Amino acid sequence: MLGRLLLFFKKVGVVVQQNSKLRINLDRDSYDILIEQGLLEHLGALISEKFGKPRTFIVTDKNISEHWLEQTLDSFSSKGIFPKVLEVPEGESTKSFDNLEKIIDQLLEAEVDRECLLIALGGGVIGDLVGFAASVTLRGIKVVQVPTTLLSQVDSSVGGKTGINVRQGKNLVGSFYQPSLVVIDTQVLQTLPKRQILAGYAEVVKYGVIRDNLFFDWLEINGQRVLEGDQQAQQFAIYNSCRIKAEIVEADEKEQNVRAILNFGHTFGHALEAEAGYDGNVLHGEAVSIGMVMAIELSKSLGHLSGQDAVRVVEHIKKIGLPSNINSINGSEAWYPEKLFQHMKHDKKVSNGRMRFILAKTIGEAFVTAEVRKDKIFKVIEKSLSGNL
Ligand code: GLY
Repeated sequence: MLGRLLLFFKKVGVVVQQNSKLRINLDRDSYDILIEQGLLEHLGALISEKFGKPRTFIVTDKNISEHWLEQTLDSFSSKGIFPKVLEVPEGESTKSFDNLEKIIDQLLEAEVDRECLLIALGGGVIGDLVGFAASVTLRGIKVVQVPTTLLSQVDSSVGGKTGINVRQGKNLVGSFYQPSLVVIDTQVLQTLPKRQILAGYAEVVKYGVIRDNLFFDWLEINGQRVLEGDQQAQQFAIYNSCRIKAEIVEADEKEQNVRAILNFGHTFGHALEAEAGYDGNVLHGEAVSIGMVMAIELSKSLGHLSGQDAVRVVEHIKKIGLPSNINSINGSEAWYPEKLFQHMKHDKKVSNGRMRFILAKTIGEAFVTAEVRKDKIFKVIEKSLSGNL
């Protein structure tokens, strides 16, 4: 409620103080999300304030460690904490049984106990892998998520989904395991490639479309500032994305019902990622962007969403520079609808053999349905393949 009020004031031009702290209230594991420029410099202080002086393990990758590890370690040593650093390779293929085993092996070799703390310093890959390792080592040790990409800051670090990829598909092995704290430093986005920022922004747009029309209005005016690195705009966008996600996760932690709307655009998007082969040709956020345009078209063609709202969403996506059609993906000339449809059938959201879709009713309201005819889905895929969305 407070967040919406803040958005309203922003919209009418009233200067409001930036919000930098959220709390996710869950039955068992409630935790804070801190969002502010420069937090990494104070990570050690934040940890010691909350957890005392735990034995700490930081898992990160080479790229992040080059830019941010020294500063992070300094913040710990000034508090008398000297973390052990475990480095994993960069990229989606890192989310494997092999790397999971390596992390657990190193933790057990170091005689980890339940008072130890694991820190996931990195993007979604690190967050998912380390969260999963934390959930199964000694049946659960504390994990702090320190996300370093826009995508992980607004989505994967919050809400407790963890996992790895297996031969049969992405994220098919994992757990719901909530972090003990999420620390989001907007400054780390300065070293993130523009393409990654843009891809993360797709998930930000998602929150406006599924849950909050005022936030979508704000994005239409301020989205460009978020992409250009304006710290205030980034903090505001991240805060509101996390606020919306927190509300949804609080209502449905284990995705029994409403949490599914967070997958808006993802049923189509995951099929594109699967067909592209997870090799970086299409980023997750880019696939979600194209998938959201497809979901908007489907919502409109089924009579749920007005043409006016559909145009607003698609225009914002295009204006901001996100991809909107499948034919923008390299190599997609060889793709065909049936193959993409088969990928969609293997999505985790299939229930009792029926595909479920997240559709929009208006900007700010989404719902889940299994009532979508195959010919309607094919029509949308065909339009996107030929670049007509
Ligand atoms: N990324 C979707 C969820 O956390 O439920």
